[in-house]
Amino acid sequence: MDAKQAVGVFDSGLGGISVLRELCRVLPQENFIYYGDSANAPYGDKTNEAILALSERITDYLLSRNVKAIVIACNTATSAAAEALRAEHPEIPILGIEPAIKPAAMHRESEEGRYLVMATNATLHLQKFLKLEKRFEDKAEFISLVCPGLADLIETGRLDSPEMKAYLKEKLSPFVGKIDGVVLGCTHYPFIQKQIREVMGPVEFFDGAHGTAMQLFRRLREHGWLKEDGIPGTVEFHSSIDTPEEIALYKRFFTMKL
Ligand code: DGL
Repeated sequence: MDAKQAVGVFDSGLGGISVLRELCRVLPQENFIYYGDSANAPYGDKTNEAILALSERITDYLLSRNVKAIVIACNTATSAAAEALRAEHPEIPILGIEPAIKPAAMHRESEEGRYLVMATNATLHLQKFLKLEKRFEDKAEFISLVCPGLADLIETGRLDSPEMKAYLKEKLSPFVGKIDGVVLGCTHYPFIQKQIREVMGPVEFFDGAHGTAMQLFRRLREHGWLKEDGIPGTVEFHSSIDTPEEIALYKRFFTMKL
């Protein structure tokens, strides 16, 4: 492996760009190849087998591009496929992302907080999440909120649409004034922080992007694969919806002010 080789990053669509942004902030000299599987989004309503098969196909593509590490920038694909992908490709680090239960639980030292965990059906029902939640149940209360269709709405790029407003109002209104923070357990959701606040008021958000970026830093350093030549890194965008409009949408999300 050579430090100049890129890091592959993938998601079911454009959600993983929220993770990519943090990866670029923490590791500004790395080259990244982003792949969004927007043609097959959402993953959250699919079976484990289907999510694994799609993730394997993307992993093969990224390996054909000679990446030195892969970041699964999708909570759903991490829960369903990370273990199998690591077993299939022991030669490179494969990192994932999980709902930021731990940072939320550790956030308040003395009092116990109540947190809403917004995520896909697949993420919230898999063993991996249930174990994570159990580990921190004495530190904080977590309320799981499955949000079917929300990633799809974000995929359209119309974040301030009437449909989005109606969806968030219906889902979140019962929790207004009753919770201390929101765990954004799907990588699409950091893009609608403003819209969530419009319903919930000034809540605190937690997501796993920073933890994943730090883990990538440590893994690359461990292998001696950190790109440290002083040259700013590059970012390439690819999508299974291979149109200029889709790539333009990805780029808009990459630079969007949050
Ligand atoms: N962005 C993905 C995640 O973090 C899920 C969206 C989907 O359902 O495809 O879970």
